[in-house]
Amino acid sequence: MTGQYSRMTESGGRPARWWSSEAGQQEARRLGLAESARVALSMGVIYQIYPRSFQDSTGNGVGDLPGITSRLDYLSDTLGIDTVWVSPFYPSPMADFGYDVSDYCDVDPLFGTLADFDRLVAECHERGLRVVIDWVPNHTSNQHRWFLASRSSRDDPKRDWYVWADARVDGGLPNNWLSGFGGPAWEWDEATGQYYLHSFLASQPDLNWRNPEVRAAMTDTLRFWLDRGVDGFRIDVAHFIMKDPEMRDNPPAAPLDERMFKSLGEYDSQEHVNDKGHPDVHGVFRDLRALLDSYPGDRFAVGEIHIFDWAEWAAYYGEGDELHMPFNFSLVWAPWHAAGIRERIDALDRAVPPWGWPNHVLGNHDEARIVGRIGSDAARVAALLLLTLRGTPTLYYGDELGMPQVEVPPEMVQDPWGIQVPGQGRDGCRTPMQWAPEPGVGFTTAQRAWLPFTPAADRINVAAELADPGSMLNLYRRLLALRTAEPALERGDYTEIPHAPDGVFAYTRRGEDAAFAIVLNFTSEPQVVDLGMTGTVALSTHPDRDGTEIGDTFGLRPNEGVIIRLR
Ligand code: GLC
Repeated sequence: MTGQYSRMTESGGRPARWWSSEAGQQEARRLGLAESARVALSMGVIYQIYPRSFQDSTGNGVGDLPGITSRLDYLSDTLGIDTVWVSPFYPSPMADFGYDVSDYCDVDPLFGTLADFDRLVAECHERGLRVVIDWVPNHTSNQHRWFLASRSSRDDPKRDWYVWADARVDGGLPNNWLSGFGGPAWEWDEATGQYYLHSFLASQPDLNWRNPEVRAAMTDTLRFWLDRGVDGFRIDVAHFIMKDPEMRDNPPAAPLDERMFKSLGEYDSQEHVNDKGHPDVHGVFRDLRALLDSYPGDRFAVGEIHIFDWAEWAAYYGEGDELHMPFNFSLVWAPWHAAGIRERIDALDRAVPPWGWPNHVLGNHDEARIVGRIGSDAARVAALLLLTLRGTPTLYYGDELGMPQVEVPPEMVQDPWGIQVPGQGRDGCRTPMQWAPEPGVGFTTAQRAWLPFTPAADRINVAAELADPGSMLNLYRRLLALRTAEPALERGDYTEIPHAPDGVFAYTRRGEDAAFAIVLNFTSEPQVVDLGMTGTVALSTHPDRDGTEIGDTFGLRPNEGVIIRLR
């Protein structure tokens, strides 16, 4: 089976790293793509690992770095992705499971050691995989030594490293800013008689990025990891770091025409124009890019940016400076029907600068899993969409198995957001990766993992799915192999096919060597499609169709998607 699904890089396609070569640079120029786009392309297909949940090597029920290293063959050979993005593994009190960093330049003992990290990077590079790590610049843990110093006294040299403010004259909060995790964004510090700002948990105080010492210290943390060979950073809530210097109130929110993001309760009552996204943020990213570019090889920066005004979002694309790209989350909350998807893709197409490179995300550690949102049949169509659209795909671990969203009972909730605001918990998408039909599902030898496994773990796991040609895993493997073998699916032109029936979304990808039509039935009804083009099915959600001929008119079964090699 490995032979049949091998990555085919030698036989036709080119590895993502080809974009780092002289020929890749020429090709990017020929396509009119900026340097940022070329570097993004050199990262290929990105795969996100939530380290608590990928592989436990110590038997404590929590995943770790040596665990990830032990599974690299799966990523590079079995699956065939190009870049591993590892969510935070830094020392942390784990109030937000690592997004509350208490030391930016080390590894939490729960996850291993710096030597384990170095080995992970070395082994990834040996396999041609690139390594992207999370960088959390907006806030630290309240246990970080910088914050401990800052809160120790108003005169401490680090006082201004965080955002402190007096109470209003009437004793009220400094302004109306809210925490994304519920309640006000201000916490009173009794000892020094001021409030500090926390855009998330009170145990995650916001750094003051207007202080040059903070900028310098945080830049050093990037250097620390670049020197260890990391290929890039996923920048946590990247747009949050610069706020209105006058700290003015946010105005009330205008009514929404369309929901682009999950409901955040009271937080949604404001227009968040002053508590994040101040234009000065772009200066920070220009400096960051200059630093990345000063290192040998391609080093990449992608921002986690939840902005749903397309023009404002696109401003985070750097051409030869700033970020290589902002994550595009529009498919995560898209209404899951052909018209809804078409509308989001068209909007993206208009928004991304002509020299920029699009990208697509179906899920991550903050969102309900795709199978939970749309069901497992539709999730197969979603897989075709993700891997054939023009743009970098980011896969979330376990989605390639069709892992469902897990209902975590209230007494087992781990996520602090879920504890603070019942219903907002993100545990259901963070359950352990399922490797084999055995106790501990090949993830752990512990009696209990930190979160429960999904129901049907005996069926939804790597070993069982490898043996089943119709499994979600084999669909992903076939898709990744085809994408690697066919440059047209990666960098070919994208054109929507306008006359598809309602319920069907269809487009072509045309390259120099080949052209494909991708035709996706988003409904649970059969559809008849008249493409006016003929060809052969290169890949289908329903493997019985692979290799069959397609005439001008053909039928699609419910939730069927096909990739047709056009004649
Ligand atoms: C980002 C992370 C999320 C975290 C939050 C605060 O949105 O993706 O997991 O809770 O930032 O750090």
